[in-house]
Amino acid sequence: MPALTDRWTFAGLELPNRVALAPLAGIGNWFVRLQARRYGAGLVVSEMVSSCAVHYRNERTWRELLRIDERERHGGPVAIQLFGSDPEMTRSAAAHVAALGADLIDLNMGCPVPKVCKTGAGAALLDDGDRAVALARAAHEGSGLPVTVKLRSGRRAGDQSGFRLAHRLVDEAGVCAIGFHPRAAVVGHRGAPDYALAAELARTLDAPVILSGALHSAAAAREAFEATGVAGVMLARGALGNPWIFEELLGRRSAPPSNGEVLSELHWVIDRASEHLGEMRAVRYMRRFYPWYLERLELDRPLMRALQADLQQAVSFSEARELLAQGVDGHGARPGRAALAVLN
Ligand SMILES: Cc1cc2nc3c(=O)[nH]c(=O)nc-3n(C[C@H](O)[C@H](O)[C@H](O)COP(=O)(O)O)c2cc1C
Repeated sequence: MPALTDRWTFAGLELPNRVALAPLAGIGNWFVRLQARRYGAGLVVSEMVSSCAVHYRNERTWRELLRIDERERHGGPVAIQLFGSDPEMTRSAAAHVAALGADLIDLNMGCPVPKVCKTGAGAALLDDGDRAVALARAAHEGSGLPVTVKLRSGRRAGDQSGFRLAHRLVDEAGVCAIGFHPRAAVVGHRGAPDYALAAELARTLDAPVILSGALHSAAAAREAFEATGVAGVMLARGALGNPWIFEELLGRRSAPPSNGEVLSELHWVIDRASEHLGEMRAVRYMRRFYPWYLERLELDRPLMRALQADLQQAVSFSEARELLAQGVDGHGARPGRAALAVLN
């Protein structure tokens, strides 16, 4: 029985351990992956990227979503996740992704969002096995890279179409690993994943299974890994604003991060967001990130909520940094409006 810290080789790729960053739409860009890497993630997967947008050279997709940073290459493979339903577009997108230097192509066959499923992509592929197999073959032929697929247990509760499709993808399309999220697409991200089904897949599939779902703490991830016998785990919501979870899982730390560590990490993220999008766009983009970090701070709850509210209104990073300094250690020039109301 392997440990999460064990090295791992599949499809010729060397992974230093069995802990991965899961794909996260709108979040898993190069710097979020680089952050996971800095804390030890052995495999990082991009947010889902439309094959159609790649094929038609959508400028923002090429510049932002497909950006791979040299620094994230150190410490394991970088996977780009594609979604779509047209094998020829997938072939073309996969070729482009390979030319950019990705190590691995992951195909999304689990996204439950109606806008995606309506086009025959994402979780709709669970009901369309022939197309799913054709897409996986096309991705490999187009790129020459190993292909993995991330899928759900099924579309509806109790439906095991994802389990059956995983077998077809490995047997008929040579898919080299399956990312398995054993929740039905219809429940989104709610409820308990079916780890018994994941264990059954790990036992019967002729390729490694990487488990996703409700791995929100190091203890939960470790327990699920041991209970299911999968080859690795993929952290999603558990890693939001919490790169320390990778270190915990890899046995490199046990204590939660101090306020100083959280703050310095948040400043790192602000710097990278600015580098990625330019300050004007990054200021808005970061509003989604603040709550994840703030909830890790040892702060009085009302003050934390007030700081949160002020950060959501900040119009520049110098203002955001000032608010953080004032809110966390009281060294800033002036507290924000909401924080002042609490302090008074
Ligand atoms: C905000 C968000 C975005 C996600 N984006 C993707 C995605 O682009 N591709 C994908 O395969 N799964 C995506 N997922 C699913 C996650 O990778 C993961 O399978 C799911 O959240 C279950 O893990 P968790 O319960 O530990 O969060 C997303 C989940 C969340 C919460």
